[in-house]
Amino acid sequence: MKRKLAIIGAGAVGTSAAHWAVVKNVAEEIVLIDIMEGLAKGKALDIAQSSAVYGFSNRIWGTEDWQALENADVVIITAGRPRKPGMSRDDLLQVNLEIVKSCTEKVKEYAPNCCLIVVTNPIDAMVYTAFKISGFPRKRVLGMAGVLDSARYRYFLAEALGVSPKDVQALVMGVHGDHMLPLVRLANVAGIPVKDLLPQEKLSEIVERTRKGGAEIVSYLKTGSAFTTPGLSAVEMAEAILRDEKRVLTCSVWLEGEFGIRDVFLGVPVVLGAGGLEKILEFPLTEEEKEALSLSVEHVRNQIAKTNL
Ligand code: LAC
Repeated sequence: MKRKLAIIGAGAVGTSAAHWAVVKNVAEEIVLIDIMEGLAKGKALDIAQSSAVYGFSNRIWGTEDWQALENADVVIITAGRPRKPGMSRDDLLQVNLEIVKSCTEKVKEYAPNCCLIVVTNPIDAMVYTAFKISGFPRKRVLGMAGVLDSARYRYFLAEALGVSPKDVQALVMGVHGDHMLPLVRLANVAGIPVKDLLPQEKLSEIVERTRKGGAEIVSYLKTGSAFTTPGLSAVEMAEAILRDEKRVLTCSVWLEGEFGIRDVFLGVPVVLGAGGLEKILEFPLTEEEKEALSLSVEHVRNQIAKTNL
């Protein structure tokens, strides 16, 4: 069966996602869509030309025409403004709200059966917007944040331990913002708890650096935010769906009582397969973790209220 991935927004994150999607061969057809004339066409053509050197045969193309969404199995929305130094992700809410609304309307029109992955910031509020506007069931509307935040956490832990990041498993739950919850209790290297390998002080430093991971990059770049790992993280989710892999990835999903939380989008570990969200992996949290997670809930509720949806 021919698989199709559509990526909306040919900015830095959308282009990175298209690039990774081709390299990882996640779909036979990858289309990059942007309303700015020529932008998606140019970016996609550049990637397509690498096929001769790299040796891939997927079709990658770009367009301004929304009809290109037709038959997409997965659609990734990356359209929107990025942060500048000193800005919080919440500062982007009003401007990106209108963008995500209009993109979602097109997705609903042309790809009513797709799984939708939202990357635009502030992610938890933007995925809620896509959920409301699309009317899709919750299993087909997911926010990308946990894969990225966990990737940063795993990388920082690996760096401190002097081991390969591949062997570090760790989970970051909650909001994609300063109140996210990198779980120290469950982080491990090949099954060995990191709290038995690193001093508490170092762990606290890593947790803090993970929480501010996006801002650290914005402070260096000055004109925008991270794009390589955000693009890959979205593709990792798309791949799990397109290949029906049953991957366990942390995604922002609509909670209906799981972890004692309801009616809010929040990053939790889920099983991703052909149906999108197939299962939420619920497990007991400590009192301290519950308290930390409640800060995330409060934060996302405030964001959601501002969407007026
Ligand atoms: C970051 C942006 C994508 O965390 O939110 O880098």
